Amino acid sequence: MTSMQLNRKLLNRSGFYKGFLILVIFILLIVVSCTSSENRDDESPVYKDKNAPIESRVRDLIGRMTIEEKIYQLTQVAFGKNMNINNIGGEMDKIPPEMGSIIYVNQDPAVRNALQKKAIEDSRLGIPILFANDIIHGFKTIYPISLGQACSWNPEIVKQACAVAAKESRSSGIDWTFSPMVDVARDPRWGRVAEGYGEDPYANAVFSIASVQGYQGDDLGDENTIAACLKHYVGYGASEGGRDYVYTEISKQTLWDTYLPPFEAGVNAGAATIMSGFHDISGVPASANYYTLTEVLKEKWGFNGFVVSDWNSVKQLRSQGVAGSDREATLKAITAGVDMDMADGLYLENVAELIKDGSLPVARLDDAVSRVLRLKFQLALFDRPYVLEVPEEERYLLPEYLLVAEKLAEESTVLLKNEHKTLPISKKASLAIIGPMAKEQENLLGSWSAHGEAKDVISIYEAMQQEFPDSKIIYAKGCDFEGIDKTGFSEALNVARKAEIVVLCLGEKNSWSGENASRSTISLPEIQEDLLTELSRLNKPIVLLLTNGRPLELGRIEPHCQSIVEMWQPGVVGGNPVAGIISGRINPSGKLAMTFPFATGQIPIYYNMRQQGRPRSGKYQDITTEPLFEFTHGLSYTSFKYGELKADKDTITKTEKLVIDISVSNIGDRDGAEVVHWFVTDPVSTVSRPVKELRYFEKQMIRAGQANVFRFEIDPMRDLSYVDELGNRMLESGEYYISVNNKKVKISLID
Ligand code: NOJ
Repeated sequence: MTSMQLNRKLLNRSGFYKGFLILVIFILLIVVSCTSSENRDDESPVYKDKNAPIESRVRDLIGRMTIEEKIYQLTQVAFGKNMNINNIGGEMDKIPPEMGSIIYVNQDPAVRNALQKKAIEDSRLGIPILFANDIIHGFKTIYPISLGQACSWNPEIVKQACAVAAKESRSSGIDWTFSPMVDVARDPRWGRVAEGYGEDPYANAVFSIASVQGYQGDDLGDENTIAACLKHYVGYGASEGGRDYVYTEISKQTLWDTYLPPFEAGVNAGAATIMSGFHDISGVPASANYYTLTEVLKEKWGFNGFVVSDWNSVKQLRSQGVAGSDREATLKAITAGVDMDMADGLYLENVAELIKDGSLPVARLDDAVSRVLRLKFQLALFDRPYVLEVPEEERYLLPEYLLVAEKLAEESTVLLKNEHKTLPISKKASLAIIGPMAKEQENLLGSWSAHGEAKDVISIYEAMQQEFPDSKIIYAKGCDFEGIDKTGFSEALNVARKAEIVVLCLGEKNSWSGENASRSTISLPEIQEDLLTELSRLNKPIVLLLTNGRPLELGRIEPHCQSIVEMWQPGVVGGNPVAGIISGRINPSGKLAMTFPFATGQIPIYYNMRQQGRPRSGKYQDITTEPLFEFTHGLSYTSFKYGELKADKDTITKTEKLVIDISVSNIGDRDGAEVVHWFVTDPVSTVSRPVKELRYFEKQMIRAGQANVFRFEIDPMRDLSYVDELGNRMLESGEYYISVNNKKVKISLID
């Protein structure tokens, strides 16, 4: 009898309500019998049924697992270096088929498939391995470092670049990237500023969403998407003195104001995982922090993905002074909310014992395992455990991938200075290209460049030759990146004498930024500054091209340059975008996402400091208190004129919306893109707010001679509120100022 027939019969015999009740019970019985592992034979378990709901598959699988199998799911080990499938036996044999996750630094899908086959075929339950790696700004098609990306103020192109990285990664066997890093960072001595989106919480939040969407797409089960990981939860960017791995002092208020927002935005965008940091947050290490990991992330925000520790950060709870043994470190981390243990193997060693003696409830173990399994199901790893083994030339560096990388690098480049319109340069000018960065390829990739290769990078020199086919271009290295050898100076001076314009290529090597790459000063090494000073004595125009992974101290050298272009570490397209900017083929549109101090001694210096008691005092006596190039600074070859801010109302209630417009005219003679940044100032509130806070930005192309309208629709709860130290969102009535450039308008919020 079909359920329809039964339904009809029941209705006829006992009336509608009775029939309805029985029908509900009947359906429930069917659902229960479908989802209960006891009622399915081992030949076709629910967890292997791709049509069953993910939560049923997770529950079914958990019900079949031993404690040991569960603990393996919470363990991640590294595998790699050996690129040859024929020689991997030894290493592969060391990895048990039950392993939960592998950091896979290889790029061969065949090796990955071989590891996966072992898991599927040799483990009792055939649970697939989750393969991860640090795909930070590209897999093979390396695009600009994140700090550069943020200067594009174009989340859409960042999303596209992440989607390219996802395709290259998944087709090479990577299911999960440890990216994006959304640590707000305000100390450029910290090498990891290169990996984040600058000093502002809102900007980090916007790029957090863009990269999560780019990596994950609409469906993690798609073969072109990978899982994202927001890191390093939370406050790692506050490392004292810019030194890596050290203590951070963060009040709860600052945690909510500055460090949590990009993570919350990424979680709301559906980020699959989160990495807990190495650092200590005011006495409680990030990887043992119940408040941030469980109370905020899992309970308040309802995050149902999983938390992976950073490399050895569970074991490091011992050196951080909160655990006296590996066992205690394990208990603290897993109890606080760390689900997967990266690299140190402590969960594997200790969790079974902790369960046995009752220190760790099985429920917490099951919760952690469910989170990991959920992602494996979402990624369709159970249903499609292997990746197609297509040739490299079909996987990497495809023309459409390179186009995205090039566009992003163009938009990331910031024209910091352009005195007397030195740039763009006429296509016929004779040029001296000088400096240690001029012929570099490797050092244009930046830190964490995954499988990017120097041979694929176009050097500045090569790009300039292509861009200026009719110019006489001469080259001299001048000096090395550091050291005291000035013997190359005379050649550099001779070369410069013969040219009309000096294009000087200075900067930082890849290894000077990124993890564990702190510097006590952010100025360039003396030898590079000296080269510039010597060249400036020739009185030729100097165009300084900078390639670096952090804001630099340029106070001493800026006056000697007519133009300065910040190209960051642009990735594989290398010198192309900057050459296009120098020739005028590209009109620069990048703006700084992080302040350039005048001197290292000003650090910390960022635009959104809290208000102070004596705003006109407290200045440095020896140097300026102002930065050299402020947050959002960036020039164009055209000029923009801002009209007046026009609000459609001056008073609104907390549930009303208000629209503010500003017209921006392109009064120059060429088309150009302009970014409008909208700031909010809340002069009086229960908790003192920063002098101004970025709440919205938009980039638009404006044709020469035309005017575009930029619009900010204010939703009070989203744009005027803040979160107090207990995590409560506060929206207070009173006056607010909305500002753009040097224009501002006052609005009132009433109850
Ligand atoms: C340590 C770094 O802090 C983290 O960013 C990275 O993802 C892991 N190592 C894995 O390589």
